[in-house]
Amino acid sequence: MIEVDRLTKRYGAFAAVDDISFQVGKGEIVGFLGPNGAGKTTTMRVLTCFLPATEGTARIAGYDIFDNPLEVKKRIGYLPELPPLYRDMRVRTYLEFIAKIKGVAPKEARRRIDEVVVQCGIVDRTEQLIGHLSKGYRQRVGLAQAILHDPEVIIMDEPTSGLDPNQIIEVRQLIRELAQERTVILSTHILPEVEMTCNRVVIIHEGRIVAVDTTENLTAHMRDTTRFFVRISGDVDIAAKAIATIEGVSDVTRTNNGLHVHWSVEADLSAAVSARVVELGMGLVEMKREAMSLEEIFQALTMREERM
Ligand SMILES: Nc1ncnc2c1ncn2[C@@H]1O[C@H](COP(=O)(O)OP(=O)(O)O)[C@@H](O)[C@H]1O
Ligand SMILES: [Mg+2]
Repeated sequence: MIEVDRLTKRYGAFAAVDDISFQVGKGEIVGFLGPNGAGKTTTMRVLTCFLPATEGTARIAGYDIFDNPLEVKKRIGYLPELPPLYRDMRVRTYLEFIAKIKGVAPKEARRRIDEVVVQCGIVDRTEQLIGHLSKGYRQRVGLAQAILHDPEVIIMDEPTSGLDPNQIIEVRQLIRELAQERTVILSTHILPEVEMTCNRVVIIHEGRIVAVDTTENLTAHMRDTTRFFVRISGDVDIAAKAIATIEGVSDVTRTNNGLHVHWSVEADLSAAVSARVVELGMGLVEMKREAMSLEEIFQALTMREERM
């Protein structure tokens, strides 16, 4: 459904998106995961024909984003990071306005608006001013405008950012419902988002793709690289060498005030590590599990790719 082919976007000499290729099949929900500045928004704006690429191309449902931007726009619904909402318009008036912009025939527009307000759970908000809605409801209106022309593909840029936890749950549920009949790409800079919403993940870092995997594999891999912080009293180098020989420990690195020890969660080695420290006649001051940062996850994934 979506084929991205060696796409590059440069701002001057700086490549915000650098030679990326990936594909999305019909009906998939693909998460575009990467830290801030990774190039997610830029890619989405190129795919939705808002921004010309420097090199490479992409096809949406077989239509090239350069050769057939009108056909592409017909098939894509786009929810930008900041949806183009007018605070002093009422929801229904706004959707009528969007329908006009998108060239939906008036009769068809009335029918579609009635449908999307049900789908997006805003039936009882249609007469409210957009500016009076909560952020969660504004996001629903944003989604309603994105799907108004009944596109096959929906592209959403950080659809849950800035929402409170309850709103996040509701909007994720809505995304899953909308995705049942459509192909979806959404971007996020947080890992749990892809775990909860997507079938597949494209991980992007500094404009390049570092991994493409199923959400299942990614989560499994994260379990394999759980990290513990260990602080001891004694010679840290000697302790590091001794801990590294424990069966099941995959990696030991020094930090300024202790050690990072990696092992898989299934084999809980905390007892073995503390026993080894005591054997050396040293004291175990602290041992705690640490969540890996996105940066480290990217590093781990990039290293894995290189090893394969
Ligand atoms: N109009 C622009 N001019 C110059 N640099 C830009 C412009 N837009 C984005 N960038 C840069 O491109 C990189 C990718 O940005 P963006 O696609 O917004 O990342 P993300 O959405 O993943 O946070 C960033 O380093 C950003 O500063
Ligand atoms: Mg962005």
